[in-house]
Amino acid sequence: MIILDGKKTSNEIKEEIKITVNSMKASGERPPHLAAILVGNDGASLTYVGSKVRSCEYVGFDSTLIRLESNISEEELLRHISDLNQDDNLDGYIVQLPLPNHINEEKILLAIDPKKDVDGFHPANFGKMALELNAFIPATPFGILQLLERYKIPTSGKHCVVVGRSHIVGRPISILMSQKGPAGNATVTVAHSRTENLDLLTRSADIVIMALGIPEYLTADKVKEGVVIIDVGITRVPDKKHPKGYVIKGDVAFEEVSKKAKFITPVPGGVGPMTIAMLLQNTLLARQWN
Ligand code: GUN
Repeated sequence: MIILDGKKTSNEIKEEIKITVNSMKASGERPPHLAAILVGNDGASLTYVGSKVRSCEYVGFDSTLIRLESNISEEELLRHISDLNQDDNLDGYIVQLPLPNHINEEKILLAIDPKKDVDGFHPANFGKMALELNAFIPATPFGILQLLERYKIPTSGKHCVVVGRSHIVGRPISILMSQKGPAGNATVTVAHSRTENLDLLTRSADIVIMALGIPEYLTADKVKEGVVIIDVGITRVPDKKHPKGYVIKGDVAFEEVSKKAKFITPVPGGVGPMTIAMLLQNTLLARQWN
C-alpha cells in the first residue's frame, strides 16, 4: 500500500512555482498577483484564506486580502468585484465561500471575470474545461489529477467510480477522468444519493473517488483488493479527547480500507493540501495566459 502524500506533493508543486516566479522576477517581470475577498468572520474561512495568503508569500506572489463586513450589501460586493475585474495589476482572485445568506452566491460568481476566475467556478471556465479547452480547473479536481499523475497511477481504461456530484468536485472530476490525457481515459461512473446498489459499484471499481461528506462511509467490504482510493471528505467530528474538540474525518475508513488498497490518500494530508498549491498554479497560469 502506498500513501498518496498530498503535503509532500503540494510542497513540490510550490517549489516548482517558486522557481518560475524567481525567473520571472529576474527578467524584470511583475510576479503573479492573487487577491481574496473574505466576507465576515467565519472561523474555517479565515483559516483557509490566511493559509492561501501565506502560500502566496512563500512562492513569491503578490497577494491582497480584502476583508468585508458580514452585513455588506450585494450591490457593494459587486462593486468590489467590478474593481478587481478592471485592475490590470491583478491576475486572479477568489471570493471565499460560503457567503452570508442575504447575498446571492450565483450572482457573485457570475460577476467574476472568467479570465481572473482562478477558482474555476464560472460557467465559462466549466464549459471550456468540459470541451477540453484551456480553462481554470477547480482546485480540488486539479489536485486529484496531479496526485494520480505524479504517483504514475494508471487510469487509462480503468473503471473509476466517483461518489458525489457537486459542482466543484464530483461533477468536474468525473468529466476530467473520462477525457483524454494524463490521469484520464478512465471509464467513469458517477454515483450519488439516489444511486441504487452503490456497494456493487464501488466493489467493481479500480479507482474510487469519495466526495460524499459522510465520515468513514467507505468500509473495506465495499472495495476490491488493489483499489486506488481518493478521499475528498473532510468532516469535523466532535471528539472531547482532542484539544480542538473535534477531529477531521474523511469519507473512507482508512485503517481497514488501506489494508486492501494499492494507493490511498489520508485525511488529513491527502487531497486537502493539494488545493492551495493548485490555486497558486491557476494564478500562475492566469499571469501567463492573459
Ligand atoms: N470555500 C471552501 N473552499 C473554497 C474554495 O476552494 N474556493 C472558495 N472561493 N471558497 C471556498
